[in-house]
Amino acid sequence: MDFNLTEEQELIQKTARDFAMDHLRPGVIERDEKAEFPKDQIKMMGELGFLGMMIPEKYGGAGMDTISYCLAMEEIAKADASAAVVMSVNNSLVCQLLYKYGNEDQKQKYLTKLTSGKLLGAFSLSEPQSGSDASNMRTFAKRDGDNYIINGTKNWVTNGISSDIVILMCMTVKNVGYKGITTFVVEKSFDGLSTGKKEDKLGIRGSDTCELYFDDCKVPVENRIGEEGEGFKIALGTLDGGRVGIATQALGIAAESLERSVEYAKERKQFGKAIGQFGAIQTKLAQMAIHVDAARLLIHRTAKLKDEEKPFVKEAAMAKNFASKVAMDASTQCVQIFGGTGYMTETGVERLMRDAKITQIYEGTSEIQEMIIARALLEGK
Ligand code: CAA
Repeated sequence: MDFNLTEEQELIQKTARDFAMDHLRPGVIERDEKAEFPKDQIKMMGELGFLGMMIPEKYGGAGMDTISYCLAMEEIAKADASAAVVMSVNNSLVCQLLYKYGNEDQKQKYLTKLTSGKLLGAFSLSEPQSGSDASNMRTFAKRDGDNYIINGTKNWVTNGISSDIVILMCMTVKNVGYKGITTFVVEKSFDGLSTGKKEDKLGIRGSDTCELYFDDCKVPVENRIGEEGEGFKIALGTLDGGRVGIATQALGIAAESLERSVEYAKERKQFGKAIGQFGAIQTKLAQMAIHVDAARLLIHRTAKLKDEEKPFVKEAAMAKNFASKVAMDASTQCVQIFGGTGYMTETGVERLMRDAKITQIYEGTSEIQEMIIARALLEGK
């Protein structure tokens, strides 16, 4: 296994780091306080090619590999985890889904604009009664000639407010379980689709999350992705890649927690010496470093398997489960090392801890990842 980055990968990493330094770090605390979407920054990320990184140039993408995507995502997440989730959803859940399962017309109409940031996408699977049990949905699309008429409520939709299009999973046949689920690409401007209020959240407050209401929303048949009944497998197949993105968002939070902790341990003095001289602090730093590196290795292994078109369902679940725990632990230890200072908003480290929590919840909770891993082990995969 080659642990070296290519010149191109190093360049992507540097470009993302420089962008994050110049455009994401300034104002990140204020955006978090005001729950303000990083609109200008996302537009710039589109121009830099960060919103359609793994899509071929033919469709306006950057044509890069998944490792490059992870390298860029880690740098973005270190600076601003809210911008990172916007990037992850648009790349992994929206562009990848359209590229893999969409037809040529859908790619020309939507994908070419999503890759450059001219359009922003959202992915809508969950409903109030169907979170982890994702196939237990009620939103229903009834065929009516050349259209479907959609009714129902979706929730926890990341990018729900700022997006222009939504990848929607809903039922087209009742009482057949997951086999009745179909995928659509729905324009936010379609009649009968409205957004709920922006949810007030613990973390990733810069990203917007809301409910979507479908009230006799008319969607043309040509906006159906794949065939009727294929929606659940399309969603789960796409989420495997999404989990690589969220694992990397978590890694960025953890890596930032480590860097901030090391800096502070060198500068903060107590009992006449830098706190980094104390064994209790050294143990925390060492454990954080081990776990951050281990999370990165798990993620890059998964990215490589994905690029080689080998199975990576179990590996993606392992990477997300582990990296999200590392993010939670490292950010909590970072606040502990900063002590009273870390508890204050102005230091920017308590935000890391708040942002970390969601990585253990969305795109499949840690418990769901463990279920996926255990099932694979028991099936000998
Ligand atoms: N890829 C493709 N197909 C898959 C698959 C995968 N990874 N995993 C399972 N399938 C197939 C199965 O093979 C099965 O098909 P067959 O009957 O033909 O064999 C079918 O899908 C149903 O599979 P299961 O019986 O395993 O389905 P299940 O109901 O037990 O659910 C689950 C499996 C893993 C728990 C799934 O429901 C799940 O992942 N839940 C979590 C939901 C989730 O991640 N939600 C995220 C919301 S989006 C989000 O969070 C975005 C954001 O805001 C950032």
